[in-house]
Amino acid sequence: MKTSNHIVLVTGATGGLGTAMCMELFKDGYRVAANFRNKAKAEAWQKKMNDQGYDVSVFEGDVTSFDSMGKMIQEIEKSLGPIDILVNNAGITRDIRFSKMSPEEWHDVINTNLNSVFNTTRHVINGMIDRKFGRIINISSVNGQRGQFGQANYSAAKAGMHGFTKTLAMEVAKYGVTVNTISPGYIGTDMVMAVEQKYRDAIVAQIPVGRLGGTHEVAHLVSYLASDEASFITGANYSINGGQHVY
Ligand code: CAA
Repeated sequence: MKTSNHIVLVTGATGGLGTAMCMELFKDGYRVAANFRNKAKAEAWQKKMNDQGYDVSVFEGDVTSFDSMGKMIQEIEKSLGPIDILVNNAGITRDIRFSKMSPEEWHDVINTNLNSVFNTTRHVINGMIDRKFGRIINISSVNGQRGQFGQANYSAAKAGMHGFTKTLAMEVAKYGVTVNTISPGYIGTDMVMAVEQKYRDAIVAQIPVGRLGGTHEVAHLVSYLASDEASFITGANYSINGGQHVY
């Protein structure tokens, strides 16, 4: 087990990927602040995590709101201390072909998956610069690297993260702050299992490894990028997709 006292904030922590990240980061010695939006779900989630020995703190906040994130980050810093590592993980899907997509379906996905990155990162970046250490890890998607039928909103948001990562990485590199993107492919989460079986089966058939990914496989990569050992990696994008998209 690695040991690090660093404080890490994971947004959208109660979902499939977020839960695995919180577990892995806790096991690796980080102090974990888990962001949630749904209070009832978060309370049950925290109890389950505690029962399994994962001591994580939960903080309510809406990633689509700059002010809500600011308030939540102040609370975290007051109760745990400065945030050293931010994992921008919160995300939703509203899959539908573009010719039928409503403005709400577009804006909900852009707000939750991309504007959230600004709303959260902007509140932590200056502290990281001042303390000369920081890690920003953006959870994008294979579908931000290529297109996916039914995901014009999601692909646009996830692709937007790459531009953000590359630019911010350049701006903060000299302060010991790294900024990277992880692009998971199809992982066995509720989000992927919500895709109608016939479409999901067709997708799995395109994955050379022949299966969906495991949430723990992504979580290990997050923990590595958060570590001190990863200080020379910045502005990078890590694909983790079972060979579904190689380029
Ligand atoms: N490629 C080509 N044509 C497709 C298609 C595809 N992938 N999917 C559907 N179509 C076609 C159908 O064959 C059908 O054609 P005909 O009209 O000629 O018969 C037509 O589109 C159906 O159109 P509809 O508008 O009625 O579509 P639908 O309601 O049946 O399905 C959809 C649309 C819900 C978007 C469905 O295509 C779907 O679920 N696709 C998968 C989306 C997906 O992969 N989402 C990933 C979610 S998980 C995630 O996002 C995590 C991550 O990062 C990887």
